[in-house]
Amino acid sequence: MLPYPSGGATARRAQEFAELAESAGAEVLGSVHARVDAPSPRFYIGTGKADEVQARVKELGADLVLVDHALTPVQERNLEKHFSARVIDRAALILDIFAQRAQSHEGKLEVELAQLKHMATRLVRGWTHLERQRGGSIGLRGPGETQLETDRRLLQKRVEQLQKRIEKVGVQRDQQRRARLRNTLPRIALVGYTNAGKSTLFNAITRGSVLVADQLFATLDPTVRRLEGLSIGPAVLADTVGFIRELPHDLVAAFRATLSEARDADLLLHVTDAADPERDLLADVVNGVLEEIGAGDVPQLRVFNKIDLLDTPPRMDRDAEGLPDAVWLSAATGAGLDLLRQAMGERLAGSRVHAELRLPPGAGRLRARLIELGAVKGESYDEGGWRLDIDAPRDLLLPLAGEVRGDEARLLRDWLDAA
Ligand code: GTP
Repeated sequence: MLPYPSGGATARRAQEFAELAESAGAEVLGSVHARVDAPSPRFYIGTGKADEVQARVKELGADLVLVDHALTPVQERNLEKHFSARVIDRAALILDIFAQRAQSHEGKLEVELAQLKHMATRLVRGWTHLERQRGGSIGLRGPGETQLETDRRLLQKRVEQLQKRIEKVGVQRDQQRRARLRNTLPRIALVGYTNAGKSTLFNAITRGSVLVADQLFATLDPTVRRLEGLSIGPAVLADTVGFIRELPHDLVAAFRATLSEARDADLLLHVTDAADPERDLLADVVNGVLEEIGAGDVPQLRVFNKIDLLDTPPRMDRDAEGLPDAVWLSAATGAGLDLLRQAMGERLAGSRVHAELRLPPGAGRLRARLIELGAVKGESYDEGGWRLDIDAPRDLLLPLAGEVRGDEARLLRDWLDAA
C-alpha cells in the first residue's frame, strides 16, 4: 500500500517500493495509493481507504500488506486485524532485505539488533490473532519466529548481548583496518542509488580478474576484486549495497557496517544513472547517506552511467585544479571504461605519495613510525642517514607530523609538500 497519490514522481517511488518488496521475496499482486493529509492514529490511513484495501486484499487473496511509510505498533496491529493479513511497514521491509544481504559478521549483528529493536515495541500485543505462516517469512527473517514468542525480558537480554558483541567486532575491525592499511593496495568502492548500474560496472571493469587475495577484506565481503590496468598499479575494488531514500533510522548503523568498504576507501566511484531525470536528487540522497555513515569526506569520482540511453559519447570532466571529477560512460556497452581507468589512476596518484625520503641518523622515531604504518617499501643506509622508499596514502602520513619531534615534523612536512 502506498500512502501517496499515484502519478508523476510518485509513480517512480511506487515502482521502487515494488522492487524492494520483490527483492524481499514478495510477489506483488496489486497496489493501492492513498493521499494522507492528516494521519489517523488508528489506521494511519482513513477508514474509507482502509476498507478499500481490505476489499482488495480479499479479492486478490493477498496474505501480506506492505506499507511504504512508518507505522506505529498500534496502527500496524489495527490494520492487521482489519485486513486479516500481516502488515509490514517500510522499515521492517528494508530490515528484512538487509538481513538477507548482510555479508560481514558485524553487518549481520547490526541487522539483527535493528530488527530486535523494531520488534521490541511490537511484542506486547502478541501475534496470536494471525496464523503464523501468513505473509510468508518476510519480516521474520533474521531473529526468526522463535523470537516472537520470547518475552520482552529475554529480548532485552539478547539486545544487550548483541550490543556487546558489536562493540567487540568494532574494535576488531579497527585493528584489521590498521593492519590492512599497513600493507595494502589503494582501495576504491562503488556507491550509488539502487539500479544505477554499480554491479554491471563492477563486472565490466574487473572482468576476468580473480577475487581479491587480501584475505581480511575478502572474508568480510566477497564482492571485492583486484583491479588491474591503472597507471598507479593494481588497486582493490569493492561493490556495495544500493542506496535508497528514507533509510529507517535504526538501519543507519547496519548500513554503516555493511558499508565499511565505502568509509575505508581511498576513492569512491559514485555511480549515477545519467538517463534518470531525477539523477541530481538521487545523488543527494546518496551523499546524505554517505555523510551519515561517516564517509562524507572520502574523495569522490562521479560516474554518469548509461550514456548509451542518451546517445552521447563518453567523456571525462576535470575540476578547477585539473583533476578528473566525472566520467560519462556505459557499463553495458563498455564505452568510456578506458577513461574511467585513466581517471581513477590520476585521482589515486594525487592522494598517494610515492617518493624517496632521506632521513638523518637522528630521525629514528619517525623512521620507526613509518615502518609501523607499512609506508616503507624498501630502505638503504649510508653516511648521510636512511634512504626510504615511501609508498602510502597522503592521509596516513600527514598525522605523523603531530606525533614526532619538531625537527622530524618539519622534515616530514617539507618532504610531503614537495612529493
Ligand atoms: P542495486 O544492486 O540495486 O544497487 O543496483 P546496481 O546499481 O548494482 O545496478 P545493476 O548493475 O544491477 O543495474 C541495474 C540495471 O541497469 C540493470 O538492468 C542493468 O542491465 C542496467 N544497466 C547497467 N548499466 C547500464 C548501461 O550502461 N546502459 C544501460 N542501458 N543499462 C544499464
